[in-house]
Amino acid sequence: SSAQKNGFDHFMLKEIFEQPRVIADTLNHYIDADTLTLRRDRMPFTRKQAVLLRQLTIVACGTAYHAGMMGKALIQQLAKVRVDTEIASEYRYSEMLNTENEVVIAVSQSGETADTVAAVRKARKNGQRVIALCNVIGSTIARETDAVLYTLAGPEIAVASTKAYSTQMLLFELIALDLANLRGELSDEDLKRHLTELLQIPAKMEQILAQKETVKAFAQSQCKCNDVFFIGRLMDYYSSLEAALKLKEISYLHSEAYAAGELKHGTIAMIDDATLVVAIATQESILEKTMSNVQEVRARGAKLLLLTNYPFEPPVGAELWNIPHTFDEFAPMLTIVYLQLFAYYMALQKGCDIDKPRNLAKSVTVE
Ligand code: G6P
Repeated sequence: SSAQKNGFDHFMLKEIFEQPRVIADTLNHYIDADTLTLRRDRMPFTRKQAVLLRQLTIVACGTAYHAGMMGKALIQQLAKVRVDTEIASEYRYSEMLNTENEVVIAVSQSGETADTVAAVRKARKNGQRVIALCNVIGSTIARETDAVLYTLAGPEIAVASTKAYSTQMLLFELIALDLANLRGELSDEDLKRHLTELLQIPAKMEQILAQKETVKAFAQSQCKCNDVFFIGRLMDYYSSLEAALKLKEISYLHSEAYAAGELKHGTIAMIDDATLVVAIATQESILEKTMSNVQEVRARGAKLLLLTNYPFEPPVGAELWNIPHTFDEFAPMLTIVYLQLFAYYMALQKGCDIDKPRNLAKSVTVE
C-alpha cells in the first residue's frame, strides 16, 4: 500500500532514500563510536584466524555478487589477502582445489537463494569455514553457516536491490579494515581515521539524494538513447557492473559494463550518437587512465555522463555529477546512490513496473 511506501511512489525510491539511515544503523552495530573501534564480538575473525588466513572465496548471485567483487578489491587492497569471487551457480558445480586456510564468504540479502544455499553446503561439506553476510535474520544461509554478519538494511521489498547492496559493501569495508588491522597492515590510528570517515558516509549520501532533480532531468534528456555503457576501472568497474544491472532490471534498456581498458578491444565499435557512456572515476591511482578512455568515446560521438570525486574539466557537452569527497575506498558507496536514482528515473519515464520488473523474482529459491 502507499502508506508502507511512506509517501514515496515506489518501494525502490523509498529504499534508495533509506540508505543513509540503514548505513548509520549498520555502522552503529559494528563500530563503538566512543572509542572508534570495531566491536570485536561482532567481527568474524579472531587475530589468529586473520593471521592464518591465506585465501578468501566470496560466493553470491546478482547484486550480492557485485558487492562481493567490491569485497575482493577492498580486502586485497587493505588486508593483502588473496580473494576470489565466484558466482554461486558456477561454484556449486566447479572443481574445488586445495582449501587449506581458505574461508568462504556467502553474500545474500534473502539468505534463501537456491544456488547460494547450495554453494554454502558444498563448502561446508568440504570442511571449510563459511561466513554469511545476510539481511534476513534466521534465513537458511544465516542458520547454516559458521558465523553471520547481518546488514541492518531492514526489509527490502523492491525486486531491484539497493539498500541491501550498499550495506553489503559496508560490511566488506569493515571486514577489510578489521583484517588489515589484525594482520598488521593498518595501524590502530589509521583504523580510527578510516572509521571516523566511514561515520560521515550517511551525511554524504544525503548530499547525493539532494541532487535527485538533477538526476531526473538528465534521465529525461536521455529518452532517445538506445544503449548505455558504464565504464570504469577496478572498484569503478564493479560499480559499473551494478549500475548496468540496475538499469537493465527495471528499465529494460540495453546496458553493459566494461572495464574501461577493454573498450578498445571490441565494444567501442558499437558506440555512436545514440549511445550514452557513463564513466566512473573515483580512484586516484587510475584517474588519468579512465579519463583518456572518456576522451576516446567522446571523440566517437557518444553522449557522456561523468561521475567523479576529483576536480576534472569534463569534455564540452558532457554531464558531470560530483561525488562528495571521501577516501577512495569508500567512494563506491556514494557512486551507486547516483546510479540507483538514474536507473529509477530512466524506468519511470519509460512507464515500467519499477517494483516488480517482468520476469524477475526477489528471491530465486528454485534452480
Ligand atoms: C534475485 C534478485 C536480485 C538479487 C539476487 C540474489 O535475482 O532479483 O536482486 O541480487 O536474486 O539475491 P540474494 O537474496 O541472494 O541476495
